Amino acid sequence: MAVPRAVVWPRDPHTAAKHDLLKKYLQPWARILLTHHDSVTYAEGFAGPGVYIGGEPGSPVVAHRVFAEALQQRPKGARMVLVEEDARRVQKLQHQLVLAREHTPDEISARMQTELHTGTCHPTLLDRLRSGGHLGKPLFVLLDSYGGPDIPFSLLQQLAQFQRTEVMLTFVPNFLTRFAEKNDGHRAAGDAAFGGTDWHGVFTQPAARKFAYLRDRYRESIKRAGFPHTLYFEMVDEGGHPLYLLYGTRHALGVEKMKDAMWSVDPAYGVQYRDPRDVQQQALDLEFEPNTDPLGRMLLEVIVGSPGGQLVEDLQQYTLLETVYRPAQVISLIERMRDGKAVATEPRRITKKTRVFPYAEKPGQGELF
Ligand SMILES: C[S@@+](CC[C@H](N)C(=O)[O-])C[C@H]1O[C@@H](n2cnc3c(N)ncnc32)[C@H](O)[C@@H]1O
Repeated sequence: MAVPRAVVWPRDPHTAAKHDLLKKYLQPWARILLTHHDSVTYAEGFAGPGVYIGGEPGSPVVAHRVFAEALQQRPKGARMVLVEEDARRVQKLQHQLVLAREHTPDEISARMQTELHTGTCHPTLLDRLRSGGHLGKPLFVLLDSYGGPDIPFSLLQQLAQFQRTEVMLTFVPNFLTRFAEKNDGHRAAGDAAFGGTDWHGVFTQPAARKFAYLRDRYRESIKRAGFPHTLYFEMVDEGGHPLYLLYGTRHALGVEKMKDAMWSVDPAYGVQYRDPRDVQQQALDLEFEPNTDPLGRMLLEVIVGSPGGQLVEDLQQYTLLETVYRPAQVISLIERMRDGKAVATEPRRITKKTRVFPYAEKPGQGELF
């Protein structure tokens, strides 16, 4: 993606998808956390100008709207900490936030605090989160750079020390495959972002594997930084290059809600899934009833690897934490696998407590999926 020089720029389809995802995730996040806590914090390290050329809202305004709505239901508070290095964009964003407040009832605005800082994401964001007492409280951090290696691994490590922090990051592997082969400053920037040199393996990968390789290494880095559960969301830019949003959390409930949000992004944006665990790497369109064949292949591997069988609830947990699918998709899939004689179940009726075994004679295995 060419880096825009103007203060505002046109919103492309993947940015629209990103905002749709952000909104659909922040809605349940705010609702759940405001039930148990007095306040939540939303932070951005690369906040942008808050508006696009066509008048569409930028991510801080999308978030402001979500919190204003959530606070209508609950007598709680929301705080926003926004950092942007370009002073022209800070000014623009300031204005957009004034407009957003004008559209918010006074009683709700009084419970929303917004701080905007001109500075580089690191260390400004962490300094502000620390001095404002946000760390350790429910905190969602969006690090939406243009996708190059701009987010230091050390920042992720420091954020991950706090139980209730979640992160969402933009990652564009094209940048590293294009620039980092020459051992210049770009390679050092990659090392700082990945927190090591493992990603250098990309230089010897076949061309078709490079992007997925970097995505998987980056996902591992986020995990290593201290977020045990990670998900990614794949989009394609105008040049046909993949762009990823990566999400890191310590909470299984966050994974569940983020997956729900991912599967409900408007498919008109041309976004897709590809599960790294599916050996056939089948791309999945985001449909109301997504194709679960790749999940069938993955579950079959797990089931065949456990002669004593697997409980449906364990397969659901595996599905939640290890694949792009949702636990709610498992029961109907197991029914289909049983009817296709890929697996056997005990008892026949499928609930969370049903045990699933490899089918004894194995006819149809490999054919159904
Ligand atoms: C992709 S845009 C953000 C878009 C915004 N999150 C949205 O969705 O509407 C990236 C922004 O980061 C800013 N930026 C680039 N490098 C930065 C850095 N090191 N620290 C803070 N801001 C930076 C750019 O000026 C730009 O406004």
